[in-house]
Amino acid sequence: MVITVFGLGFVGLTTAVGFAEKGIKVYGIDVNEERTAVIREGRLPFFEPGLDEALVRNLNKTFFVTENVMQAVAESDCIYYCVGTPYGEGGQADLTYLYSAVESTLSGIQDEKFRVLVTKSTIPPSTTKEKIVPFVEEKGFQVGRQIGIANNPEFLREGYCWDDFMNADRIVLGISDSRSEEILRRLYAGFDIPVFAVSLNTGEFIKYLSNTLLATLISYSNEMSVMADTVGDIDVAGAFRILHMDKRWGGCSMTSYVYPGCGYGGYCLPKDTNAIYSLVKSKGFDAGILHNVIQTNERMPEFIAERIEKNIQPDSCIGILGLSFKPGSDDVRDTPAAKVIRKLAADGYRKIAAYDPIAEGEFKKYYPDIELSYCTDMESVIEKADELVILTAWEEFKKLNEMTDKPIIDCRYML
Ligand SMILES: NC(=O)c1ccc[n+]([C@@H]2O[C@H](COP(=O)([O-])OP(=O)(O)OC[C@H]3O[C@@H](n4cnc5c(N)ncnc54)[C@H](O)[C@@H]3O)[C@@H](O)[C@H]2O)c1
Repeated sequence: MVITVFGLGFVGLTTAVGFAEKGIKVYGIDVNEERTAVIREGRLPFFEPGLDEALVRNLNKTFFVTENVMQAVAESDCIYYCVGTPYGEGGQADLTYLYSAVESTLSGIQDEKFRVLVTKSTIPPSTTKEKIVPFVEEKGFQVGRQIGIANNPEFLREGYCWDDFMNADRIVLGISDSRSEEILRRLYAGFDIPVFAVSLNTGEFIKYLSNTLLATLISYSNEMSVMADTVGDIDVAGAFRILHMDKRWGGCSMTSYVYPGCGYGGYCLPKDTNAIYSLVKSKGFDAGILHNVIQTNERMPEFIAERIEKNIQPDSCIGILGLSFKPGSDDVRDTPAAKVIRKLAADGYRKIAAYDPIAEGEFKKYYPDIELSYCTDMESVIEKADELVILTAWEEFKKLNEMTDKPIIDCRYML
């Protein structure tokens, strides 16, 4: 079995190296030359423990980075799409990268061999059936006979990509023909993970079921924390910790989503909640709960900034602790920290210092317009600041109370 993976980001590189680790020959393709150059040197373009060593183990043995689409596609039985599906018009998923990768695959096909085109990128329910299948057919290919079309949503968490891929809880295959199902089951045969073959729409829907539930839990927790603040004299962190002691939660790690913070961020939850809400609205249903989940999340940075502004004067130096959207990751896409800092700057707070264990470089790259005085460690941000604000729950921030007597606003309820 040979496969090609388009898109070598968090999902694509993990998928490519994961299959390669199981002895499958994998070609990896990415349009970002800076990214492929780094990967070719055996380095990761982002922080992801475990994947770094696996890349070195498999690079140029079973995993090959290539620009030669024609050769990769010619050899492959399956083509995986792990390209970005960012916010598009009106909140819907932008499928431009996906179409472009599918198009270059099709232009590389010059024989009659049966191949499966598998979307691993997150795409709203009905996308494969109503958009990708017609797109492939318009190019003159017979879907189901000459080419199989499937989806295989990915549930990995950034910071745990490698383990989540290799030891996934479940594998979901959205399929519409038995030949594709048989090939994909063979591909996953080396993994001891339950495989569920479902319809194309169901496969896509399961991914959104997961992400919208997580977003709902987070927005519920955040709204409750704002309600508690509004009432006053409530120990928010303590109340949530006692809530988690309910036996019905069974000590499950899901409780980490039932906890207040600054709002969900990162690449997935914000765009995915918007994408399914907008898609379903365009089909005639206005989803009330999801609408409020999104609204609550959008308002969180403002609530957090207000909380800071109530306690800190504009001429003080604020020391921000944490820039990434969550601990254990250097991903700053849609991070609440950027929104909170922007709001503070707009409200006249000029002296802002910041420290993040690993995300400074990414933050500078994504938000070049945000002026910050970056610090290289906790000691220096403590020294520079008059007051400290925790915006990401990095483990090392737990010792903040022992390191300083300066006022701390713990927006992650972690101390
Ligand atoms: N990041 C996550 O935690 C996560 C988890 C599950 C699912 N997903 C979904 O997986 C998809 C990818 O997410 P990601 O975080 O890996 O994104 P990413 O931005 O890290 O990577 C996407 C890569 O695709 C490349 N690309 C774009 N167009 C291309 C093309 N035509 N040919 C080849 N490469 C191309 C980009 O250069 C980039 O390197 C998204 O749909 C996302 O919603 C992400």
